[in-house]
Amino acid sequence: MTPLYNDIKLGTFFTPLEWGLWAVRQYNLTQKWLQGATIFDPTCGEGHLFEALIEDALRAGQTKHLLPFENLYGVELNIHLYEKLCQKMYSKYQWKVDSQRITCSDFLFYTAQKEFDIILSNPPWQTFNDLPPSYKPIIKPLFVKYGLVEKTNQILLGKSRIEIAALIVMKSIAKHLKTNGEAVFFIPMSILLNDGANEQFRTYKTLNVDFAITEVYDFLGVTVFEEVKTRYGLIHIQKNQKMKFPIPYYQNEQNEWVRYSAKPIFNFTDPLSKIENQEWMNELNENSKIVLPKQFIPRQGINTCGANDMFIFDDYQEVSQDLVSLSNKKQRNIILPKKFIYPLLVSKNFNSNIHSHEVSKWILLPYQTDGKPLELSQIEQYTELYDYLYFNRPFLAYRRGKMINTWIKRGYFWALLGVGKYNFKRHKVVWEAYGRREFKPKLFTGIWQANQSLQAYISIDEFYEAQQVLIQLCQGKVEKYLQSMNMQGTMNWAQPGRIKKIIEFK
Ligand SMILES: C[S@@+](CC[C@H](N)C(=O)[O-])C[C@H]1O[C@@H](n2cnc3c(N)ncnc32)[C@H](O)[C@@H]1O
Repeated sequence: MTPLYNDIKLGTFFTPLEWGLWAVRQYNLTQKWLQGATIFDPTCGEGHLFEALIEDALRAGQTKHLLPFENLYGVELNIHLYEKLCQKMYSKYQWKVDSQRITCSDFLFYTAQKEFDIILSNPPWQTFNDLPPSYKPIIKPLFVKYGLVEKTNQILLGKSRIEIAALIVMKSIAKHLKTNGEAVFFIPMSILLNDGANEQFRTYKTLNVDFAITEVYDFLGVTVFEEVKTRYGLIHIQKNQKMKFPIPYYQNEQNEWVRYSAKPIFNFTDPLSKIENQEWMNELNENSKIVLPKQFIPRQGINTCGANDMFIFDDYQEVSQDLVSLSNKKQRNIILPKKFIYPLLVSKNFNSNIHSHEVSKWILLPYQTDGKPLELSQIEQYTELYDYLYFNRPFLAYRRGKMINTWIKRGYFWALLGVGKYNFKRHKVVWEAYGRREFKPKLFTGIWQANQSLQAYISIDEFYEAQQVLIQLCQGKVEKYLQSMNMQGTMNWAQPGRIKKIIEFK
């Protein structure tokens, strides 16, 4: 099929030869190819993975003109990369690429009824969110078809960080891998380690076909792809095999691959946890969850949807009983009603020194204490607030994102995300949800607010209950659970979705 988007670039970084060689040797793929197996790369770029097979064969003493090129198949979306592949293969190996076998096409719409013995691929690492806008609606239904979401609107609501690579893996296995075939993919590790968006991948089933991940190589700390910030790895898959845990999970420590094992701790589709310490694992199971009353739900901090400069301030001066003057790096001396200004937590507040309750940032919340945004008639009662919000309306009303737009369309252009009546409870047990290595929740009293994905919290009316929650969360169990997910230092360290997994709400 002629690609619709044959000059877009989607995740175009290529596997360095040494890593291509490493991957094919890991699973003896060159031998299998030479013995007649067909190998397919659904997103073949300039053909670096084919090159790894060819080079491996040549280095083992095979002769160029006897190599079974006719057993290599592939698809590449981008015409320029495709042409480069053809030229390179001819000039280096005198392989005249046959466009029936290796096609320039969009793999997601590749309809050839062909199945291969082996799939070897490094699919583009890009989330749905980051795709070109006109491409999104075209591929959205495929996420439903291959079982990655139940309905297309889930992709817009909360699952927009779903990986295109997950879709390519699913389609490759479902449509183009022979029964009992094997597949080797370089993948973004979020598919295996993150909550939320990629969870359905971990049903390990597509179009009713089972597949098992039989090994994982986590490249944490190893640079395979220069300038790629994504955490990535290599997986080996066996089609028509049920997923069974634990599985071998390798990490590179001082240039050695060290074998661990991994499994989901609570539910089958949970992210994988690395079993570093069997004792911990024994402590972490369905019966060892923390029990909390069901209203104590972990929440994410407030999200201004790109308007931090309009809502968050770092200087606060009282000017009268009811008014304060606020400044930040973009705006000076903004006068606003004191009753809508709240202290905002910053990382300094989590230090254990005596100043850790000092306020250094403030946030404007044009909200009622029942968690609803102020009505226009209420805003009109506060001239300074009205003037400020309407002065900034041209920006606030044009913030992007499906959820904030629902509020804006209803007229509440001053709304924020992550605000509800829970924001206005007197006590919060808060923890840093981003990039930590230790889990150290802290109790804050006095309607402090948490900041976007940096912090997460449970809000509570009564002080003694807040203390109980704090004690429960501070048990080593939660920290061990988080550490087993191997997400220290990333934005997925202790987000509410992850913490909820270790809590049983009663
Ligand atoms: C990460 S690169 C890897 C290329 C090559 N397999 C390698 O290992 O060097 C991903 C490739 O997928 C291609 N690609 C992205 N979306 C595609 C699609 N829907 N169909 C086919 N190729 C696609 C990109 O153009 C890019 O060349």
